[in-house]
Amino acid sequence: MGCGCFGAVNCRKPKNDSHNQQTPGIGTNNVRLFSYNSLRSATRDFHPSNRIGGGGYGVVYRGVFRDGTQVAIKSLSAGSKQGTNEFLTEINIISNIRHPNLVELIGCCVEENHRILVYEYLENNSLASALLGSKSKYIFLEWPKRAVICVETAIGLAFLHEEAEPHIVHRDIKASNILLDGNFHPKIGDFGLAKLFPDNVTHVSTRVAGTVGYLAPEYALLGQLTKKADVYSFGVLMLEIISGRSSSKAAFGEELLVLVEWAWKLREDGRFLDVVDPELTQFPEDEVTRFIIVALFCTQAAAHQRPTMKQVVEMLTKQVQLNDKALTEPGVYRAHTSRRSVGASSEETSSSQADKGKQSTNPLEDPTQSNVSEYISEMFPR
Ligand SMILES: Nc1ncnc2c1ncn2[C@@H]1O[C@H](COP(=O)(O)OP(=O)(O)OP(=O)(O)O)[C@@H](O)[C@H]1O
Ligand SMILES: [Mg+2]
Repeated sequence: MGCGCFGAVNCRKPKNDSHNQQTPGIGTNNVRLFSYNSLRSATRDFHPSNRIGGGGYGVVYRGVFRDGTQVAIKSLSAGSKQGTNEFLTEINIISNIRHPNLVELIGCCVEENHRILVYEYLENNSLASALLGSKSKYIFLEWPKRAVICVETAIGLAFLHEEAEPHIVHRDIKASNILLDGNFHPKIGDFGLAKLFPDNVTHVSTRVAGTVGYLAPEYALLGQLTKKADVYSFGVLMLEIISGRSSSKAAFGEELLVLVEWAWKLREDGRFLDVVDPELTQFPEDEVTRFIIVALFCTQAAAHQRPTMKQVVEMLTKQVQLNDKALTEPGVYRAHTSRRSVGASSEETSSSQADKGKQSTNPLEDPTQSNVSEYISEMFPR
């Protein structure tokens, strides 16, 4: 991917950015350009004690500017061509997209070979460390907080899919990319893997990004990238939030099932609620059951059977009764899974799933809420 992919982005380096808070080298109005020196002093020369994490593209530091503003500074591995491209993608996309449930990109540094992103700082770190992290990082989240995290993450993702211009498929929805503010409201981070996503185009990615454990089977195996791949990852994320367990680490039951399979098996055995985090001693059973059903709708093998994120928001926020009989089996990608063993990937299974969809009743079923069910039946063609 070269600079040409970014249209509006001018890849020239800024001439003297240490005196200039404008963005001469980058075609966007929202991003501030920081000098390398200002980021060095904000992080005390990138001192290890200010390091708050690290992922595939670089290291994240906490920084404090002279006026007391805290920021998260993501320094991308220098010299990595991939990192530079992801950096440019991220700048171009995020700078124009703002929403209360998306991490705000405040600015960047493109001095010499440095490629650094400056984000708003989220006090409670990532959902991964709060929910699934080591003892020192673990924060107990009672059910109401978990419910808010599910709903608001869904709202942020629905915004990316339906309202952001251009529409965006995130491609890497996972617990470490959900950041929590001081009141445990979630914000989706890391658009480095996101792609511009105009409507009415079939998207087949050339390179599968994302994180195993969250990957929709059709994306992992066939490279088919649609918004429904994000919906799948969101379903996995919801199961992690409900169960307090990591989908990539744990194996469940005697058959060592992955989280999604385990949740499905429990549902088949009529034991929906056994998936719930044992630390959660008090929770509203009806609501949690509804959330589990939504997660299972999201992780169905056949991508076209999964709801849109807008529908997910409706299902999570409205007191509707979901019809779990309409659920079809989840798809699971394992590194060694063959194509044919993943239902959604073969045409044969796809069409049989589609037939099942035709026979099944609407996933949102509540005759007393006619406007909602009308809306949903429009969205779930029989
Ligand atoms: N804006 C932020 N505020 C507070 N902490 C952050 C922020 N951004 C990132 N972090 C912390 O830094 C960690 C690493 O983030 P990073 O995005 O580099 O890696 P990752 O999410 O684990 O993996 P990936 O590279 O696949 O996204 C996060 O898990 C989180 O703990
Ligand atoms: Mg990340």
